[in-house]
Amino acid sequence: MSSTQQEDRSETQEIVPAQQTEKALIVVEGLSKHFKQGGELIKAVDRVSFKVAQRQLIAITGPSGCGKTTLLYLLGGLEKPTSGKLIIDGTDVGALKGRQENAFRSKKVGFVFQSFNLIPNLSALENVMLPMEIAGKHHGDRQERARQLLIQVGLEERRHSYRPGKLSGGQQQRVAIARALANNPAVILADEPTGNLDSKTGRRIVELLQQLAHQGRTVIVVTHDRSIARLADRRMELEDGRVISVKNNSNMAQPGTTAKTTIAKK
Ligand SMILES: Nc1ncnc2c1ncn2[C@@H]1O[C@H](COP(=O)(O)OP(=O)(O)OP(=O)(O)O)[C@@H](O)[C@H]1O
Ligand SMILES: [Mg+2]
Repeated sequence: MSSTQQEDRSETQEIVPAQQTEKALIVVEGLSKHFKQGGELIKAVDRVSFKVAQRQLIAITGPSGCGKTTLLYLLGGLEKPTSGKLIIDGTDVGALKGRQENAFRSKKVGFVFQSFNLIPNLSALENVMLPMEIAGKHHGDRQERARQLLIQVGLEERRHSYRPGKLSGGQQQRVAIARALANNPAVILADEPTGNLDSKTGRRIVELLQQLAHQGRTVIVVTHDRSIARLADRRMELEDGRVISVKNNSNMAQPGTTAKTTIAKK
């Protein structure tokens, strides 16, 4: 029992720089997700611990099946952890129940998927308005906010009435990002957001995510693409459900950055 606790402590990684005064927006402590599959226990996420500050773009990388999507789903509340703790903006997410949890999640977290997941028979504008409707925002307000968000992500106004099928992949992903921003969440989680885009379009989308992070949101992106991971402030590498390295990228312009990067993987 105590040896397990010790092992967990030795693997806690400070993604937040030690001298940074800004608080950690996300705190993950010993988070695990296990699946039972045909008599086999799969440790998709295995005792992962880290902290993420505000205004950061974090890239999660690692080979297929290492647990990237599962970790992102745990962070976004789309999966329940087998064990461990998740604190977002000071709230212990595991302690929330039912509607309370849904309300918290829709207010704090926006999700962006590889396949955009837009609703095909709604216009770009209506897709962005939808989460605000669910949150109970007034029609006029949500229409105006959706319009502004689409302009912010770079979709020209004449395309706001287009359905997703009439938009390019890059344009669809911009709509999906605007939709993720609809309820003004502190955290944006993106699972391979450039996986269905050519490299130039993909880079533009990641630059957009980078801008959002530096304007004050915390953005966590899962990616296979090393050139995209290099645009992040920090890179976290997973292997077999464990974090095996955390690296600062040189593009991070923060004085006094002293993130611990040593991991004791046994
Ligand atoms: N619902 C599930 N039931 C059983 N096993 C699952 C489930 N979801 C994920 N897994 C397993 O957990 C492990 C991690 O899967 P995950 O999808 O998180 O990997 P990934 O790193 O996102 O992979 P990829 O790069 O291919 O998207 C894999 O072995 C996968 O088969
Ligand atoms: Mg995945």
